[in-house]
Amino acid sequence: MPNSRRLGVSPLTSLSGQKALVTGAAGGIGIAIIQALKNAGAVVAGADKQPSHTSDFSIIGDLTDPTFSDHLPETAAQALSGLDIVINNAGIIRRGPITEASDEDFIDSFAVNVEAPFRVCRASIPLLASGGGGAIVNVASCWGVHPGPNHPIYCMSKAAIASMTQCLGHDHAHQGIRVNAVCPNEVDTPMLRSGFEARGMDPQTAIQDLNGSVPIGHIAQPEEIADVVLFLASDQSRYMCGALVEVNGGKPVF
Ligand SMILES: NC(=O)c1ccc[n+]([C@@H]2O[C@H](COP(=O)([O-])OP(=O)(O)OC[C@H]3O[C@@H](n4cnc5c(N)ncnc54)[C@H](O)[C@@H]3O)[C@@H](O)[C@H]2O)c1
Repeated sequence: MPNSRRLGVSPLTSLSGQKALVTGAAGGIGIAIIQALKNAGAVVAGADKQPSHTSDFSIIGDLTDPTFSDHLPETAAQALSGLDIVINNAGIIRRGPITEASDEDFIDSFAVNVEAPFRVCRASIPLLASGGGGAIVNVASCWGVHPGPNHPIYCMSKAAIASMTQCLGHDHAHQGIRVNAVCPNEVDTPMLRSGFEARGMDPQTAIQDLNGSVPIGHIAQPEEIADVVLFLASDQSRYMCGALVEVNGGKPVF
C-alpha cells in the first residue's frame, strides 16, 4: 500500500490507464464527465444516440434497445481493451402530474432511466470482477431521494436507480466493485433549458432567476457534478459503497 494511504493523506485523483464507459456521452453532464475522466488519465468510450465528439471511442446506439444495452459493456471493453469504470449517466425527463402522463412517458422514462442502467450494470459486473474490481457511478437525482412536485415519473425512475445503487453497493463490494450515485439538483444543461423553452420561457432569464434560489449562489455547472463523479470513480472514494451523494449547492428539494 502506498505511504500516502498509510498516513491518511489522500492521493491525487489519478485514473491513469483506466478504461471507462460513459452513457449519455453527448449530453451536458456526459461531456463534462468525459473531460474530467480524461483529465485524470482515463481512456473513455462514450455511448449515446448521438455521436460523442469528446470521448476516445464513440459508441452510437439507443439504450432502450435491450440488445444494445446488454452488449454495451462488452463493446466498450473490446474498444478499450478492458473496463474499470462505468458511468450510467444517460437520462430523460418527462414533466407534469400523473393525470397528464401518457403510457409512453412512463415506458420511455423507465426504459432509459432504469432498465438501461439495470442491463448495463448486470453486464458490467462480471467484466469488472474479472479485472479485479472497478467502480460504477450512477447519475440519479436529488429528486429521486426527496421527490419534487409535478414530476412523479421522473422522481420514481430516479428513486429506482438510487435504490439499485444501494443494493448493488453492498451486493458487489466483496468483488472489489464499488457502486455509488451522484444526486444533483438543477444543472445547467440542455435537459434543464429545454424544460424552460417548452414552457415558453427564455432559458437564460429563467436560469438567472433559479440561481437566486440556490444558497451557494448558482445552479450547478456540469463540471461541478463531473468532479464528484470523478471522485466516486477514483480510489479517493475507495471505502464508499452504495452511497447516494447529493450535490445541490445547499438547495433542498421543495
Ligand atoms: N440537468 C439537470 O438539472 C439534472 C439534474 C439531476 C439529474 N440529472 C441527470 O443527469 C443525467 C444527464 O442529464 P443532462 O442534464 O446532461 O441531460 P442531457 O439531455 O443534456 O443529456 C442526456 C444525454 O442522454 C442521451 N440519451 C437519452 N436517451 C437515450 C437513449 N435512449 N439512448 C442513448 N442515449 C440517450 C441523450 O442523447 C443526451 O446526449 C440524466 O440522468 C439526468 O436525469 C440532470
